Amino acid sequence: MGPNSHVAVVGATGAVGIEMIRTLERRNFPLSRLTLLASSRSAGKALQFRDETIAVKELKPDSFKGVDLALFSAGSGISKEYAPRAVADGCVVVDNSSAFRMDDAVPLVVPEINARDVAGHHGILANPNCTTAITLMALYPLHQAFFCKRIVASSYQAVSGTGAKAIEELRRQVQQIVRGETVTWEVYPHQIAFNVLPHVDSFLPSGYTKEEMKMENEGRKIMHHPGFRASVTCVRVPVYRAHSVAVSAEFEKPVTLEAARQALLRAPGLDVVDEPDAKRYPMPLFTAEKDNCEVGRLRKDCALDNGLCFWVSGDQLLKGAALNAVQIAEVLLA
Ligand code: A2P
Repeated sequence: MGPNSHVAVVGATGAVGIEMIRTLERRNFPLSRLTLLASSRSAGKALQFRDETIAVKELKPDSFKGVDLALFSAGSGISKEYAPRAVADGCVVVDNSSAFRMDDAVPLVVPEINARDVAGHHGILANPNCTTAITLMALYPLHQAFFCKRIVASSYQAVSGTGAKAIEELRRQVQQIVRGETVTWEVYPHQIAFNVLPHVDSFLPSGYTKEEMKMENEGRKIMHHPGFRASVTCVRVPVYRAHSVAVSAEFEKPVTLEAARQALLRAPGLDVVDEPDAKRYPMPLFTAEKDNCEVGRLRKDCALDNGLCFWVSGDQLLKGAALNAVQIAEVLLA
């Protein structure tokens, strides 16, 4: 792969895929050709990249011949089926799904944290879960300073994390309510407009959901911290874009607010927005469409020894997905 790479986006018409195309353009990713792949439903659809109009092609087994790098975001099933085929054709895959994240042969990377892991890839690299990536952007600098033992956290996750159909569902429900019509739903098990659902992903026998356990499992791998523990409640909220997470973290070493603030101020990809007296704290309305995550509401946790509470918010289509994937590709090139 070099400056004249042929790049493909798989799931190009989806909520994340569209952001991948924009992010490649915005960051001036060095590529000579861009192939856009989706289902047969989207074949022929025209999408814009730089000053080119590119027709979406149907994803097929031979789609990766001559492709150097593929960014996948069309769900786990598609990744499991097509990523190994792409690798067999000589392509490097950055996969946004959960299909390979916990595979020992697959680096799971947040470039600000473990860029060095990229070098160990065998063709596939994984992009972390969006809520995990956003949380770690603030937690990892604190872990480096004080050594994190465990966290207790609740997420406030935007509907765009579920995909384009969920954005449409929230929009439709808001209109139905405003017009006094019957509210209908297909994507979520309940109405999402003017509601919150303590249910993201499927339930495990433990009572946690799969999404909730990604924080501990993926967090351990990304931070190289096998003893990290995380008890998380994931909640879907009627926000279009950007996830937020309320975190209580317990550390091995004594913490001070000043040292914590300094660690966060130095952290790449993170902005400290923490002036509660001026009513300034991170909010999804303002982290949407922004590359950096924001952290605020920093305080000593009154119920933990060596504990800190914080609130972190970030665009899960960007740092939680498309931006992180393109950053991984940039590390590959470097
Ligand atoms: P399509 O738009 O043609 O259905 P989202 O996460 O926003 O729902 O987007 C999912 C992405 O994955 C879309 O680009 C979608 O394409 C793509 N996709 C879904 N199923 C398939 C499939 N069987 N083959 C290729 N792409 C698929």
